[in-house]
Amino acid sequence: MRLDRFLSEMKIGTRSVLKKEIRKGAVTVDGEVVRDPSTSVTLNSTVTYNKTPVIFSETQYYIINKPSGVVTATEDKHHTTVCDLLPEGARSDIFPVGRLDIDTEGLILLTNNGTLAHKMLAPKSHVDKKYYAKIKGEVSEDDIIAFKNGFKYDEDLISLPAELEILDVKDGNSEVYVTIHEGKFHQIKKMFLARGMEVMYLKRVTFGPLELPEELSQGNCRELNEVEMNLLSEYM
Ligand code: URA
Repeated sequence: MRLDRFLSEMKIGTRSVLKKEIRKGAVTVDGEVVRDPSTSVTLNSTVTYNKTPVIFSETQYYIINKPSGVVTATEDKHHTTVCDLLPEGARSDIFPVGRLDIDTEGLILLTNNGTLAHKMLAPKSHVDKKYYAKIKGEVSEDDIIAFKNGFKYDEDLISLPAELEILDVKDGNSEVYVTIHEGKFHQIKKMFLARGMEVMYLKRVTFGPLELPEELSQGNCRELNEVEMNLLSEYM
């Protein structure tokens, strides 16, 4: 990897600042001052910036508030991806943990920690995912019971017990929270369709122990803080 990219991914500064710093002679690689930002470094290189060793950190964790229209992928020919929304300095091997539909908004965790992703996505982990939804149709107590018991919502698919909370029912429309403990393709939309209703708007507000931070506006992302990292430790 290029030296300026390595330093940027280790959060020392932006690529443009780092290029200048490297040219000034502020960076050494394996004991030698290096002035070419494109110099190749590996995990075994010893790098210092202003005489301080740059410690290689293997993993990064970001939380993003995905807007509608953005795809949950690392690359896409036609759409902006959640990885396109990562800030400069985010490692290039970061990927989204799980997926949301293109028109679903809300919380996505991104990391390059494959073990954590695997554990959080494993069906047996039953990681909670809570969604806020606007529904075309009047959600009733019968729906709450059906969600609680689990029901056949697609050809071969029976939902695990899920929690449905009615927030408001007005003029043939409803607002609800739904918490599921699995994550099948289009699951919430299909569950409501099977109950004769349509999901008009969907936003994920929690993923496992993580909550969508109120201050994180749509399209923005930030690194997980210490509290959130501690919450994730059960999956590490
Ligand atoms: N269920 C859906 O139908 N869509 C999503 O994006 C997430 C859960």
